[in-house]
Amino acid sequence: MQRGKFITFEGGEGVGKTTQIRLLSEYLKTKGIECISSREPGGSPWAEAVRHVLLSGLADKMGLGPSGEAILFAAARADHVDSKIEPALEQGKWVLCDRFMDSTRVYQGESDDVAPELVDSLERIAINGHKPDLTFILDLRADVGLHRANARRKASEAVDRFEREDITIHENRRNAFLQLATRNPDRCRVIDASQTIDEIAFDIWRTVENVLIKPAKAEQEKRDADQTSEQNEAEEA
Ligand code: TYD
Repeated sequence: MQRGKFITFEGGEGVGKTTQIRLLSEYLKTKGIECISSREPGGSPWAEAVRHVLLSGLADKMGLGPSGEAILFAAARADHVDSKIEPALEQGKWVLCDRFMDSTRVYQGESDDVAPELVDSLERIAINGHKPDLTFILDLRADVGLHRANARRKASEAVDRFEREDITIHENRRNAFLQLATRNPDRCRVIDASQTIDEIAFDIWRTVENVLIKPAKAEQEKRDADQTSEQNEAEEA
């Protein structure tokens, strides 16, 4: 059984991650690839409870502070990885995740000034070696993203703790995501999220084909060929 691939989607508010995850998941199914979609903070029952504490603003209001919030994000991530992501990958399923470790780097590390050593340690513990195989960074002007996020929100939904912040903070996060992509060129691909939904989906599919599907197919073909030649040698002997 070939291990599944792990793809994460990152970016600021309102960049369209959810729509693109849905489209990629549909595309992968047409290719016969089984996949699951998940999100952070959350993804597992316990992590969803932590999500509520973080996004409702409760942690902030109770004076937990940025480092405490970073620890909560990491604790939720550790459970999500252990109980959902890793078992799925082991079963050969692909996992598409809406936000992951890069969000902590940008939101807690850059915006909230949590010490880099703490962010590094939390990341190591939380992901336990499970770095994504591919990360899409959906890049969009912060004002456009916030406008979309506001338009999408139902009247009954509250603005979350992170959406409430000042526009310059959102612009800085956009830059931080771009810098993170530059520092991790093997794993990260920046996608222009100001394009139409179909254009963005096309960029994503093409990248997934080139970076993950074709190499995996070539690897499988090589394994099959090696196995056949081993069988032939054994028969001849
Ligand atoms: P969500 O409603 O899922 O929004 P979005 O559609 O923007 O992903 O809210 C998740 C919020 O949590 C988002 O503002 C980013 C923030 N966040 C962090 O600050 N650190 C993290 O590690 C993660 C995963 C998310």
